[in-house]
Amino acid sequence: MANVVYQIDPARVLFGPQSTEHVRDEVARLNRSRALLITSPSAQEAAARIEAQFPAGMIARFDDAQMHTPVKITEQALTVLRAHAADVIVAIGGGSAIGLAKALAVRTGLDQVVLPTTYAGSEVTPVLGETADGVKTTRSAPEIRPETVIYDVDLTLSMPIALTVTSAVNALAHAAEALYSAQANAVTDALAVRAITAIGHALPMVVQDPEDRAARSELLEGAWLAGTCLGTVDMGLHHKLCHVLGGSFDLPHAVTHTVVLPHVLAYNAPAAPEAMRRIAEALGVPNAPSGLHDLISTLGGPTSLAALGLPASELAHAAALAAGTSFPNPRPVSEEGIRALLTDAWHGGQPGGGRRYPGAELRQLLAEVERSLGNAPEPRLRTLLTSLVRHLHGYVAENDLTNAEWMSAIDFLTRTGQVSSATRQEFILLSDSLGVSSAVDILGNSRSTGTTPSAVLGPFYLEGPPETPQGTDIGAGLDGVPLFTEVRVVSQTGEPLADAVVDVWQSNKDGLYDVQLPEVAGPVLRARFRTDEDGLLRYWSILPSDYTIPSDGPVGEMLAAANRHAYRAAHVHFLINAVGHQQLITQLFPTSGKYLDSDAVFGVKQPLIVEFTNPGGPTPDGRKVVGEWHRLDYTFTLARIPAAAE
Ligand code: BEZ
Ligand code: FE
Repeated sequence: MANVVYQIDPARVLFGPQSTEHVRDEVARLNRSRALLITSPSAQEAAARIEAQFPAGMIARFDDAQMHTPVKITEQALTVLRAHAADVIVAIGGGSAIGLAKALAVRTGLDQVVLPTTYAGSEVTPVLGETADGVKTTRSAPEIRPETVIYDVDLTLSMPIALTVTSAVNALAHAAEALYSAQANAVTDALAVRAITAIGHALPMVVQDPEDRAARSELLEGAWLAGTCLGTVDMGLHHKLCHVLGGSFDLPHAVTHTVVLPHVLAYNAPAAPEAMRRIAEALGVPNAPSGLHDLISTLGGPTSLAALGLPASELAHAAALAAGTSFPNPRPVSEEGIRALLTDAWHGGQPGGGRRYPGAELRQLLAEVERSLGNAPEPRLRTLLTSLVRHLHGYVAENDLTNAEWMSAIDFLTRTGQVSSATRQEFILLSDSLGVSSAVDILGNSRSTGTTPSAVLGPFYLEGPPETPQGTDIGAGLDGVPLFTEVRVVSQTGEPLADAVVDVWQSNKDGLYDVQLPEVAGPVLRARFRTDEDGLLRYWSILPSDYTIPSDGPVGEMLAAANRHAYRAAHVHFLINAVGHQQLITQLFPTSGKYLDSDAVFGVKQPLIVEFTNPGGPTPDGRKVVGEWHRLDYTFTLARIPAAAE
């Protein structure tokens, strides 16, 4: 991990409905009493409620905060502050009111209690931007950061929709630039992803219903987290550009952020692929710049600088101003690069020249499909079907699937069905070769510790193999190296399990099962045994061989297309039933076998790889064999069925 320096400066945050009622308590908590209240026109009603909390004469008001914090206005406010002998600054409003509070705090050293009514995030940063003579300057100092922030969702309920959209995208910009900041760290990454997820989720809901308090609250929380990113790591090209466009061309702050952000993301995408992946994932879109652009335009937000009244003739000047200063950015910045970016943003097309992504239509379609399943009376079926369509729709969206690709998938599945029969199950083979059978097997059978792992059943098991006495040679004279097997079946506490029913089946030396050998009649290399009173089972067979799974059908095509081989590592199958214990279906793999690390159906697990020894000398039961023979010893430990389940 890269070296990290992370510092979070203390600020007190109250988050919750009606928290505006606590302003006076918070002022008292700071040991202050004489407040200057800075308001914005949209917050007059809440401002009156704050005033009402203070005794007569203990609160004065300044109602004239302005965008971009002009120094002239700050000086007027300072006069009011001094005349009132205020010892604390309270601000309620958007960036203008909070900017003015900060400008006063840095000049007087007074504490601030601020109540944001937009999502700009500046309430949690130590940064102040001011304008004088058409030039915006920014400074950062600990005393600029407000001491107490009160997030009251009720203050945001009446925010006009147009402002809601632009202000939320303004917040999103802080989180997006935090993700590719050189100072990004685990904390800011987590805050940024959560902020983008919350904003992407809640904003469309708020646009649908501006008074949806839960969605408004989620949006406000996203803004808080995004603002915290803004106050913690350096911002890049996006913030620089918006700063120039706002300070020198008087473009409105949040609106400018909204138009510019998708284009800056497109510019930075080649240099910050991981940040783009996270932004896209958090927004639920395949591509961050175009997904954000489409989200904004679907929500009726602004998408062009031309519509904001910026003359095309100013683009070169703006690019020169932005390129003329140094600031951190993942992709090197050139004047021509910025001019191209601004030209795109001026015209308002897709960022990076991309095509529109119909994300809103897809989301609406999925919601309809989910609703159509909502009445399925069986709850588990409802859950499984709903989850299935979510994943399928997600797959289609994530991969921007074409009709030709989907038709080819349908054709593949159709042929998978057509090739299946009573003796060939191509769907199971498909599930096996994609590891799905093993995943289901792990979920169902790997829930106890200290027991033998399970492995897939496979298509060659036949129900009810013939009961066979111990010691039998189930190879029935087939050619191959004789294998003597002695296995024990025990409980989790190590006690032998007598009378356990053990079905075994395996391939011959050429990797074929009896059902695949037309010349072989009846069960060969398969049998049903019972363990003796010591839980032991002994029998003879031959060494199994690796073999290919059936690959002359659609599954074979898929393996070839993925450049995968079709081999299973050599193995012997076991299916064991013992009273009071869970059934164990498993396989044992000789250490000497090939394909142990690339088994075509992902059935190999380390504890199932066993040495099939070659001891030489006389056989354990005195059987006469010509040439070498091998021996397999193993202990199967079965999970007890819990008393309640039994
Ligand atoms: C088997 O081991 O018999 C097997 C398992 C999955 C697919 C094909 C064969
Ligand atoms: Fe097999």
